[in-house]
Amino acid sequence: MASKTMIESQNIAVPVQKDPDILAAAARLAGEDMCSVADLSSGEVRAILKLGHEVKRNPREYRHALDAKQMVLMFEKASLRTRLSFEAGINTLGGSAIFVDQTSSPLGERESIADVARNVERWVDVIVLRTYAHDTITEMAAHSRVPVINALSDFEHPCQALADFMTIEERFGTAAGINFTYVGDGNNVCHSLMLTGAQLGANVTVATPRGYSPDIEIVTLARDIALANNCEIRLLQDPQAAVEGADAVYTDVCVSMGFEHESTKREPIFRPFQVNEALMAKASSHAFFMHCLPARRNAEVTDAVLDGPQSIAFDQAENRLHAQKALLLLLLGGLANTASFQ
Ligand code: CP
Ligand code: NVA
Repeated sequence: MASKTMIESQNIAVPVQKDPDILAAAARLAGEDMCSVADLSSGEVRAILKLGHEVKRNPREYRHALDAKQMVLMFEKASLRTRLSFEAGINTLGGSAIFVDQTSSPLGERESIADVARNVERWVDVIVLRTYAHDTITEMAAHSRVPVINALSDFEHPCQALADFMTIEERFGTAAGINFTYVGDGNNVCHSLMLTGAQLGANVTVATPRGYSPDIEIVTLARDIALANNCEIRLLQDPQAAVEGADAVYTDVCVSMGFEHESTKREPIFRPFQVNEALMAKASSHAFFMHCLPARRNAEVTDAVLDGPQSIAFDQAENRLHAQKALLLLLLGGLANTASFQ
């Protein structure tokens, strides 16, 4: 796979107001759910990222796009970035958010998920869920008449992957043709990165320990999408081979939320997959280091890499805000209230 030359800024071919991807996405996505990256077409992923860049450049233009819209966030797991970026995002679009801490009362325990959906949809315009079971998200989506957004399940973290590829576009101008390597657990973040990378034409290589490879359903889906977008998905077990020629090297914790009871077993298995200076030295000299955060410092990544000049982990965290604002604008029909789109 050829290595991508770094370019400085994003190419903007047409104004966003006339961009065919954005106009098509605004028409198709209004009122829809976003449970998985697979709910989106390649054009819709491109649209979210283009609008994300635009909202980042011109936040004031969208200040009233979602006036009076009400969001609820119902989280069964801890969060810093996702909670705050969604809350800040809706606030800066004119709407407001209510946070419901579900860490001690999982969804579906007190009453059925269907009944929760039938209540909550009467009060709010969008439901943002962070859950253990992915089925909790799809079930809420099946019974809710307002959009449901996956803010991390055990199977996917689509909002993370959108922000991550927006960050890649900032650095390379495009994600198409870049060599993106994920090293670590083939889990939720890895799944969404594979799907998003394939949608955008990136070559995605995943290196996991044996037994921790991504779900076969996601691999098959990502490979089908990649075929249509002239890129490839490779699965390896050797992190050294996987980072060769990489433009971006990404890792995540090896003990995700909900897997804490496996930490003693997992830590030695994942040790050879640590992203450190020696591993980064095997990637392209211009390669960036990426992490969804939170990081377990000096476990899956060393301080030297996370705090070093190649790290763009905090840019990724920043772009959660902009990518999610773009997503909210599309799912909640916010462009119709934006003067420049009239
Ligand atoms: N990356 C991410 O989702 O961070 P939080 O768990 O803090 O939301
Ligand atoms: N894989 C991690 C991601 C945290 C943002 C987890 O699920 O805990």
